[in-house]
Amino acid sequence: LKKQALNEIKDSVDNLKELNQVRVNWLGKKGPITEVLRGMKDLSAEERPKVGAIANELRDKLADAISIKQAQLEKAALQAQLSAEKLDVTLPGRPLKQGQPHVLQQIIDDLEDQFMGMGYQVLEGPEVETDKFNFEMMNLPKDHPARDMQDTFYITPEILMRTQTSPMQARAMVNHDFTKGPLKMISPGRVYRRDTDDATHSHQFHQVEGLVLDKHITMADLKGTLLAVAHQLFGDDHDIRLRPSYFPFTEPSVEVDVSWGPVTADTKPEDIEWIEVLGAGMVHPNVLRMAGIDADVYGGFAFGLGPDRFAMLKYGVEDIRNFYLNDVRFLEQFTQRG
Ligand code: PHE
Repeated sequence: LKKQALNEIKDSVDNLKELNQVRVNWLGKKGPITEVLRGMKDLSAEERPKVGAIANELRDKLADAISIKQAQLEKAALQAQLSAEKLDVTLPGRPLKQGQPHVLQQIIDDLEDQFMGMGYQVLEGPEVETDKFNFEMMNLPKDHPARDMQDTFYITPEILMRTQTSPMQARAMVNHDFTKGPLKMISPGRVYRRDTDDATHSHQFHQVEGLVLDKHITMADLKGTLLAVAHQLFGDDHDIRLRPSYFPFTEPSVEVDVSWGPVTADTKPEDIEWIEVLGAGMVHPNVLRMAGIDADVYGGFAFGLGPDRFAMLKYGVEDIRNFYLNDVRFLEQFTQRG
């Protein structure tokens, strides 16, 4: 019996769970040793101490063997775990892919930096707007024909997806206190129009609105500001051109073009290729009055430019939809400087 038990412990056991089973089998309440000890009451007085001594000795031996085996198994398990978790610090690292701001965000960040440097504040506003701010406060009453210029996603008759960032002009104006200084702000963000998507149209795109109000602001200030922006984004050798246009919230209104290539003193005017990049103008007195501003004292300019269009021009992107597909192969081309 003893031999069999010891062999079982030594050989046939190679994990802690099995060993425990062996312990239960041999030393447990239903095991053979317990049985022998239990049967002692039926033995004669001379037999009892002998059998008891043998049984006890056997029990102690087995218990010792089991605990030795257990210690061995535990040590082996620890060893195995240590070598499995070994870390080779000399292996080369696996490179982590680094993300970057979206190309449109890069353009917007650039513009924000530049305008903040000129003392503008950056305001963001709701993409779900009211008809009042998106249209009426911008001098576009309900029956105004120019509403057709901006095909609109309506949510309810009074609530819509903003078609332009211009409502932020009105929001900034009603909150402004001129005793604290002029109002100079830009407002970047997403806008929405019911267009059928194609290479040059997207039902969702971006605008950066700009607004400057104070006493004695002139159209020359507007032109100088926009020229500085064009130089920053496209290079100092690019020129801009203002063409008369129409917007309900500005009077006079202009569309602004940037020269496609560099312009020097020797460039002949007819050789310059002009690309339209933004709309602008002097803020309409009606817009000022509706925001509670005295149009006889204060005035200024506003502009709305499209980062999508800027990015297309700057990087030669031919399809606006690329900006919204989130194809990493496209986006990775615009690694950020510095
Ligand atoms: N909101 C105009 C548009 O989306 C752009 C604009 C802004 C024009 C500000 C003039 C002044 O077409």
